[in-house]
Amino acid sequence: MALLADKRALVIGAASGIGRETAKLFAREGAKVAVADIDKVGAEATAGEVAALGGGGWCVAVDVTKKASVSAAVDEVVGRLGGIDVLVVTPFVSTGMTVIDMTQADWERQYAVMATGTLFAFQATIPHMQENGGGSMIATSSSHFADYGSMTHPAMMPAYGSAKAAVELLVRSTATLHSHQGIRVNAVAPGFTVTQGSLSTLEEHGLKDIATIEGMLGPGMPMGLGKPEDVAEGYLFLASDYASFVTGYSLPVDGGSLANASGKLAP
Ligand SMILES: NC(=O)c1ccc[n+]([C@@H]2O[C@H](COP(=O)([O-])OP(=O)(O)OC[C@H]3O[C@@H](n4cnc5c(N)ncnc54)[C@H](O)[C@@H]3O)[C@@H](O)[C@H]2O)c1
Repeated sequence: MALLADKRALVIGAASGIGRETAKLFAREGAKVAVADIDKVGAEATAGEVAALGGGGWCVAVDVTKKASVSAAVDEVVGRLGGIDVLVVTPFVSTGMTVIDMTQADWERQYAVMATGTLFAFQATIPHMQENGGGSMIATSSSHFADYGSMTHPAMMPAYGSAKAAVELLVRSTATLHSHQGIRVNAVAPGFTVTQGSLSTLEEHGLKDIATIEGMLGPGMPMGLGKPEDVAEGYLFLASDYASFVTGYSLPVDGGSLANASGKLAP
């Protein structure tokens, strides 16, 4: 039996990486899936793949930094699908500025896309889920990994880590307020995952080829670097009825990198 049979899902940030693979996995598991992104061309490509998997693949343009754009996208999806049972929010933007180098614009951009964007998505979706009698909203945090997470010291990426910490607390607060209405609210916290977004962030630090990246990050990751398909399975669990008593939680899907806080594998 498909895990998401009869569910209607909206995946925001689905033009690339983790969002794209999550939309495809949801389609394979029987959901009707709408995909949204600021990158219309990429979103259309994902929508085509989702449609080929039998998941419908409705495509909507959205800029999560603009409240009106998010409301319009959510309303459009509700109009087409009749409701939203599962919301996934994965947009990403990052630059590797240190505290000293950080400009106000850089700080605000990362907050706008990842923290405020998640807030707008929750705000637009909650009334529809209340009408439905419930649903599952899944944000995206980041697991502990050296400089790369919300629970550690992101020396190279302070705005990114701070925005992810904001997402974690937004998830817990929203879960506390809305779980009694049947709206579960959780986050997936990926470890390092090979995507267009993560590779272009590393490229800013002069790290281009995958062998060098593996050499640098691999020793902290007991199961090696993640693939977007691996991380998508975390969203699937939280979207499914098998997580019916799970809310206010941040699920690391990181191949053991949080457990390996020292960043070194045993000899
Ligand atoms: N890849 C990793 O190593 C990793 C690790 C930890 C956490 N994460 C998190 O996982 C999520 C997905 O990351 P990814 O690696 O798949 O990134 P990605 O760059 O491959 O995909 C992100 C998508 O967000 C979209 N986007 C950017 N700004 C937007 C906006 N204003 N409105 C709507 N969409 C917008 C992009 O167009 C892109 O399609 C992010 O929240 C990221 O922080 C990723």
